[in-house]
Amino acid sequence: MKKLKRYTQFFLNLVLFSFIFYLINVYNDSTKYEKQTVKNDKRLDLSKSLFERDKYTINCDLIFKKDENEIKKSKTILKSLDLNANNSYGLLSDSNFIFPKSNCPDFISQRGYFRFNNYTHQIELDFPIAYSILTYEHTEQFERLLNAIYRPHNIYCIHIDLKSSSFFKESIRSIANCFDNVFITTKLEYIIYAGFNRLKADFNCIKDLLDHENLIDENHPNLLNKKKVAWKYLLNLASSEFPIKTNLELVQIFQLLNGSNSIYINKVHGMISHRMKNIFFNDYLNNRIYSIKKARNNKPPHSIRLVKGSAYGAFDRMFLKNIFINSKILDFIKWLKHTYSPDEFFWASLELNTHLYENSTFKDSKKANYIYDIARFNGWYGSYECGGMWRHKICVLSFEDLNRVINERSIIVNKFMLEYDPMSYQCMEEWLNRKVVEKFYKGLNETYFLKDICSLFRKRSFKVDC
Ligand SMILES: *[C@@H]1O[C@H](CO)[C@@H](O)[C@H](O)[C@H]1NC(C)=O
Ligand SMILES: *[C@@H]1O[C@H](CO)[C@@H](O)[C@H](O)[C@H]1NC(C)=O
Ligand SMILES: *[C@@H]1O[C@H](CO)[C@@H](O)[C@H](O)[C@H]1NC(C)=O
Ligand SMILES: *[C@@H]1O[C@H](CO)[C@@H](O)[C@H](O)[C@H]1NC(C)=O
Ligand SMILES: *[C@@H]1O[C@H](CO)[C@@H](O)[C@H](O)[C@H]1NC(C)=O
Repeated sequence: MKKLKRYTQFFLNLVLFSFIFYLINVYNDSTKYEKQTVKNDKRLDLSKSLFERDKYTINCDLIFKKDENEIKKSKTILKSLDLNANNSYGLLSDSNFIFPKSNCPDFISQRGYFRFNNYTHQIELDFPIAYSILTYEHTEQFERLLNAIYRPHNIYCIHIDLKSSSFFKESIRSIANCFDNVFITTKLEYIIYAGFNRLKADFNCIKDLLDHENLIDENHPNLLNKKKVAWKYLLNLASSEFPIKTNLELVQIFQLLNGSNSIYINKVHGMISHRMKNIFFNDYLNNRIYSIKKARNNKPPHSIRLVKGSAYGAFDRMFLKNIFINSKILDFIKWLKHTYSPDEFFWASLELNTHLYENSTFKDSKKANYIYDIARFNGWYGSYECGGMWRHKICVLSFEDLNRVINERSIIVNKFMLEYDPMSYQCMEEWLNRKVVEKFYKGLNETYFLKDICSLFRKRSFKVDC
């Protein structure tokens, strides 16, 4: 009995000590947390602007020249930033971007949304571009992408994942409210990794963009006070991407494409059979998709040859319009609903199977296993030397990557993460701002640039004559 009492006493003491130890730890953690918050607040200087952080003092020109000392110095600064401390991951808080419409003039002027108005050629105004942007977290990163690609004469549709926080959704609404050419798609999806809804999210935006004039006429709440834009080409983006071509360059590229798309195709990818043979379902509770053993999918309809590609591309408006009225393509979409990662198969297969679209300008090069696009640059694991870190087998870009990526022929570079390296991102913004002005003055006859792009198109057997 006595023994039992002693054990109980010992046990109680143990619990008590553990609890005290726990409290000390919690206290330590919270003081650490406060210290970091204060430090970050100072850096962000919120009194100056809720919408932007102070500029980091680095020499981007040297970084672009791969200057070893400057890169070393920048890495040291980056390390000292405590970005991964658990206070908003070093990002501006999403709630900074929740504001009433009356604050829009401040937002627009502080963030310089109209800074390129005097650096826009008539051919850009005559050739509006549509964007479909998928986003689910980190308002600051989304806003900085929008800021880089925004032009008052283009049109921007945003899809917000249904599982995003209400703060995030509210912040994106506040931003969209400030512009007559930025809107949130009329139908939001709950996106599960590799599920059909990822593709559906793009479809929703594309449909709305094709139909926005009617939605405006019908006073749809998402399109109140928006304007009609006769866009000609569409780019779809994720908010972790960044453009390396100016709007003028895009217009020149799209004019060369002359109705063709730029879609990456990989004809020899081995994952197709597994991903397409089984039937997959959404499991919303566990936020994943799953397949049932032996539940086999039928062959794709209309003798479609499946190929893998990218979920992102550059698309002609007529081509996109056709998707939603062409019965063969609608059958294909229905079939894709229960496959794995259909966004990576849809665009590439559509492009390759020219019998699906009477006006297709794609000419397959039978010998080629890969058809390269100019829509995207990805630093793929295994074929790219990453200066940053790997995430889902794609390089998250950092200082040592910048010199290479700005010289890529692609339109968009994937990917940057502000919470990982906000300094490289700042350099990319400075570089792009300057490039817009330079290209504006160099004008429309930049033979080198166009020749280079043309030779690429010729290799791709487009029906372009340049
Ligand atoms: C950091 O914050 C996130 C989001 O608030 C939370 O889910 C996570 O548990 C936190 N991590 C740590 C180590 O405290
Ligand atoms: C554009 O140019 C006009 C006239 O030169 C000038 O008044 C205006 O401030 C400029 N706007 C911007 C955004 O630079
Ligand atoms: C094909 O192009 C012609 C001529 O531009 C057009 O009238 C027709 O509607 C197009 N068809 C499709 C399916 O886009
Ligand atoms: C563009 O520049 C090249 C080389 O300077 C010149 O040969 C060509 O005629 C110019 N084209 C136009 C349309 O001005
Ligand atoms: C562009 O396409 C149209 C019709 O699709 C064609 O008639 C024209 O020759 C093409 N232009 C060039 C420069 O390839």
